[in-house]
Amino acid sequence: MKRSEISLGMVGLGYWGPNLLRNFDQLPDCCVRVCCDLDATRLAQAQQQYPYLRTTDNYDDLLDDPDLDAIVIATPAPTHYTFALKALQHGKHLFIEKPLTLEVQHAVELVELSEDTDRVLMVGHLMEYHPAIEKLKDLIQSGELGQIHYLYAQRVNLGRIRHDENAMWSLAPHDFSVAMYLLDAEPENVSARGAAYLQEGIDDVVFVNLQFPGGVMAHIQLSWLDPHKLRLTTIVGSEKMVVFDDMETAEMVKIYNKGVDHSAGYTSYGEALSPRFGDVTIPYIKMTEPLKLECQHFLDCIMNHRKPRSDGRDGLRVVRVLQAAQQSRNRNGEPVDIRM
Ligand SMILES: NC(=O)c1ccc[n+]([C@@H]2O[C@H](COP(=O)([O-])OP(=O)(O)OC[C@H]3O[C@@H](n4cnc5c(N)ncnc54)[C@H](O)[C@@H]3O)[C@@H](O)[C@H]2O)c1
Repeated sequence: MKRSEISLGMVGLGYWGPNLLRNFDQLPDCCVRVCCDLDATRLAQAQQQYPYLRTTDNYDDLLDDPDLDAIVIATPAPTHYTFALKALQHGKHLFIEKPLTLEVQHAVELVELSEDTDRVLMVGHLMEYHPAIEKLKDLIQSGELGQIHYLYAQRVNLGRIRHDENAMWSLAPHDFSVAMYLLDAEPENVSARGAAYLQEGIDDVVFVNLQFPGGVMAHIQLSWLDPHKLRLTTIVGSEKMVVFDDMETAEMVKIYNKGVDHSAGYTSYGEALSPRFGDVTIPYIKMTEPLKLECQHFLDCIMNHRKPRSDGRDGLRVVRVLQAAQQSRNRNGEPVDIRM
């Protein structure tokens, strides 16, 4: 067994959990000691790969283990609230996959409990740890893009059709968290329309429109029923425009020196608007696996008593947008006010 600073217990070894396990296992500041899943085959696979692991099919075993400092939850979203509540009540630091909960009130409870008990609560908003998103944040903060007009994100592909949540709850937490992180703001209202083609009552495709303060708009397209695999974010500013293509490995961010200038000397307003076409630049981005950065950040926050970038409050604001978007979708796209 390697030297460990922080002892972790993990629950959920389905599709995503093994990625978390691999990353935490490789970090020197922690040791994953116990894994929990209801599926004996998944537990056996994990134990074969990491022989020092203990396994259990009973989540309470993690809670009752006084040697565990923190718990990592990667089970389906409907289990999140109960598992998270118990972890915090047992004094554990907590990393929980997105979405934090399915209800705003539950997220509020978890945030308050983590703050009252001084435990780290971090939500797996993975894209907030992506080096390309950091680059976009720099471009916005430095003013290089000018005033941000609008952004749109496309997260579509064919597959990983879920039965326990719709495409929006499954996919949108990434784009909602990124939009709020980049714009450093919360939307004022949301409207969403969706449709269920494959399973009754579970949307396969959802189009969400978020209105941020100052007229900034974000449009998010989500689908697991699409011929393309797209992971695209486009931001349009008054000076420049930028596109982040997460399917690209090398040239993932492109900055377009394009815009529309207001030229003086024309009598008609329309003639005074002249499109500007300039260079396209591709900044070098030093890539590290975002999941590794995310896992390390969780450990750093525990060791240094800091709040994570994607803390409980960040998880809460994403759930608030999800819940409002679902209300709007249920009312055929009627805008829903998100402001408290
Ligand atoms: N950050 C990302 O990019 C990303 C990607 C995929 C999934 N996720 C998130 O990870 C979580 C899990 O998603 P998934 O796709 O791995 O789901 P999954 O259904 O593939 O796996 C869930 C696992 O949890 C186990 N489980 C369920 N109930 C349990 C219980 N009561 N006790 C113990 N084990 C239990 C199941 O047996 C299964 O192995 C979700 O919150 C999802 O949104 C995040």
